[in-house]
Amino acid sequence: MSPATVMPEVSRKVDYDSLEIQYLKGVKHLFENGIEHVPKKYILPASDRPNVVNERSHGADNLELPIIDFAELQGPNRSQVLNSLASACENYGFFQLVNHGIPYEITSDMVDVSKRFFELPFSQREKYMSADMGSPVRYGTSYNQTNDSVFCWRDFLKLVCHPLPDALPHWPSSPLDFRKLAVSYAKDVKFLFLTLVDAILESLGLVNKKNTTEEKDEDDDEDENENEEEEILKEFEDGSQLMVLNCYPPCPQPDLTLGMPPHSDYGFLTLLLQDEVKGLQIQHKENWITVEPIPGSFVVNVGDHLEIFSNGRFKSVLHRVLVNSMNYRISVASLHSLPFESTMRPCPKLVSETNPRRYMDTNFASFIEYLNSRDSTKKNFLHSRKLTS
Ligand code: OGA
Ligand code: NI
Repeated sequence: MSPATVMPEVSRKVDYDSLEIQYLKGVKHLFENGIEHVPKKYILPASDRPNVVNERSHGADNLELPIIDFAELQGPNRSQVLNSLASACENYGFFQLVNHGIPYEITSDMVDVSKRFFELPFSQREKYMSADMGSPVRYGTSYNQTNDSVFCWRDFLKLVCHPLPDALPHWPSSPLDFRKLAVSYAKDVKFLFLTLVDAILESLGLVNKKNTTEEKDEDDDEDENENEEEEILKEFEDGSQLMVLNCYPPCPQPDLTLGMPPHSDYGFLTLLLQDEVKGLQIQHKENWITVEPIPGSFVVNVGDHLEIFSNGRFKSVLHRVLVNSMNYRISVASLHSLPFESTMRPCPKLVSETNPRRYMDTNFASFIEYLNSRDSTKKNFLHSRKLTS
């Protein structure tokens, strides 16, 4: 990490080809070569930079995200907590989940082993680089490195987690405990996701409580509802899970670039684990709010699929990541949805004459096609699925 080593960019004759190749090695590589200025490739147009003058961020910046206490959800206050959950998904698209029951050791080991993975020599990380979007493991940099005109200040490792027996042999075998720790974590998060989906379906009014069978006439309807709920839950059990380990190295000029550009998450729900370094911001009423890290908690957000499923009631909200000049930041995002080949559509029970269907059917193939063809940041993909009335 010698600050004396300056990138070749400052020399007179710039070899752009070799620079592009350097950039594909990622930002950790740049930082470790002692870079003192952000290369042009990473400099955003002034209007897209963080902290631009027209941002009315004071006050709102300190606004706290709703906190959902998972343990309370399992107790006598379930219905109040379900209301808070619905209101968080409607008004913020985000909440922090505390008391979720996953032991602290599992989450801290996951952050720790991710850190150790990114600390491996580049020659070892490089083995997992792949241009194939369907690869069970993919190491890379920026957001969508084949399409990004401006690169962002992030390196990542993406791990397909389902079906685990197929994917696991492709996961990194170094650090030695990587697979063991990442598997325990992935399984616990999947279970937590399924429990959360159950609560989310109930908060959308799609599940009838099992002990309210007073009115006989409605029994048939209730059976039908329960079947539908069981069906979708079963689909999620066999659903997709993708873990993204993000590494944001310190950046010499954090005002000029972003760790991740504004985007919404494809999928139903994302459960994000972050270390103690701030960086994640969500868009709320035209402001960017910084999410304060709560050790051991999850930041949960509504993805495009849940917005579609809820026919627009729950919001898949734009978020971005800031970088800083002092610290590395590690986060682990777990993205969950239906199996890849399934179709997502607004839940028929949430569509009516007064609330018509707002989105067309969508599936993974249409998303991949979109990703490969266009800029996947901002809510473009979701907007492309909107039905205009
Ligand atoms: C993501 C994401 C936020 C973060 O991986 O989709 O938004 O803080 N990550 O790393
Ligand atoms: Ni995201």
